[in-house]
Amino acid sequence: MSPTIKPVTGAQFSRIHGVGGYRPTRVIPNSEVLNWIDSSDEWIRTRSGIAERRWAGPEETVAEMSVQAAGKAIAMAGIRPEQIGGVIVATVSHLKQTPAIATEIAQRLGCGTAPAFDISAACAGFGYGLGLADGMVRGGSAEYVLVIGVERLSDLTDVTDRSTAFIFGDGAGAAVVGPSETPGIGKVVWGSDGSQAEVISQTQAWDTAFAKPDAVNGAGEETKWPALRMEGQTVFRWAVYDMAKVAEQALEAAGITADQLGAFIPHQANMRIIDAMVKKLDLPPNVPVARDIAETGNTSAASIPLAMERMLERGEAKSGDLALIIGFGAGLVYAAAVVTLP
Ligand SMILES: CC(C)(COP(=O)(O)OP(=O)(O)OC[C@H]1O[C@@H](n2cnc3c(N)ncnc32)[C@H](O)[C@@H]1OP(=O)(O)O)[C@@H](O)C(=O)NCCC(=O)NCCS
Repeated sequence: MSPTIKPVTGAQFSRIHGVGGYRPTRVIPNSEVLNWIDSSDEWIRTRSGIAERRWAGPEETVAEMSVQAAGKAIAMAGIRPEQIGGVIVATVSHLKQTPAIATEIAQRLGCGTAPAFDISAACAGFGYGLGLADGMVRGGSAEYVLVIGVERLSDLTDVTDRSTAFIFGDGAGAAVVGPSETPGIGKVVWGSDGSQAEVISQTQAWDTAFAKPDAVNGAGEETKWPALRMEGQTVFRWAVYDMAKVAEQALEAAGITADQLGAFIPHQANMRIIDAMVKKLDLPPNVPVARDIAETGNTSAASIPLAMERMLERGEAKSGDLALIIGFGAGLVYAAAVVTLP
């Protein structure tokens, strides 16, 4: 008889045990944005819902913000860092190609030799990480997995670009995923559409940006630091029409109806997108909706865990409630799921 490999068994179910966030200390009100672009406080508020955002200072690195957020999530979960068997960091703004920032974060947190890696799934990064963590816990490759969404989008923002200069913010959010006696993470409905890769994208790759200016741009032209660009209206339409359907699929896959939700926590991309989704989902008015974007801006992978922490802190939602989360962004990529709040 041929030898058989010993089967691996994991937890039957998983859930989020703790969540934590870090918001940089420097507040950038709309009035400061007006120093860079021709706009108005009123235009920014009505078109995006943003009143202010936080931008990280030199000490508030991707690793530092992650360690702060994760420390809170681990404390809330009531576990020791060495019990963490996986560290997943979702980010598009760790500016060093290698190594992944996750290994430094794991080491600083005291997660021993836990596998640690970064994923690039933009504003769907937290949902992608959650899907992976759920699989790892149930598949038996880790007991607890730390999922971090972290961005310093200010490093990739062209402050002279009217269509993006007011949108992005910095911060970190983290969640500890671990075993559960009942299902705490519904089926993650996720996907991608590479045909729309250019809709939100870095202006140029690092190799062309740093090649000799003469060779790339022609004589005398200045090399420009790459920044994020997006086709605002295309993203807007895609988010409102296609993402509402994805959110419905996540509800259906979890066997939950909108009126059973204790919270709706969409990616904080734009307040008008949030409002339109609420309408399309026919969300009952008593379901609290995360609107953290007003004070935080769009922090991509960090936005959902930051908004989740804030809703719990402010008592807008409570532990044990069911929340529908959905992230969507550059790729294009998306991920939605119903989760039990920690
Ligand atoms: C970016 C966004 C707010 C722009 O709003 P919009 O209504 O599409 O704006 P448009 O680019 O069509 O411009 C409309 C008008 O506002 C003006 N405008 C553009 N940017 C402006 C700014 N920053 N301040 C003031 N006016 C501005 C335009 O010049 C245009 O003026 P006109 O009508 O006189 O020609 C919007 O498209 C959006 O939110 N898209 C989704 C982006 C998003 O959420 N991305 C994150 C995904 S992860």
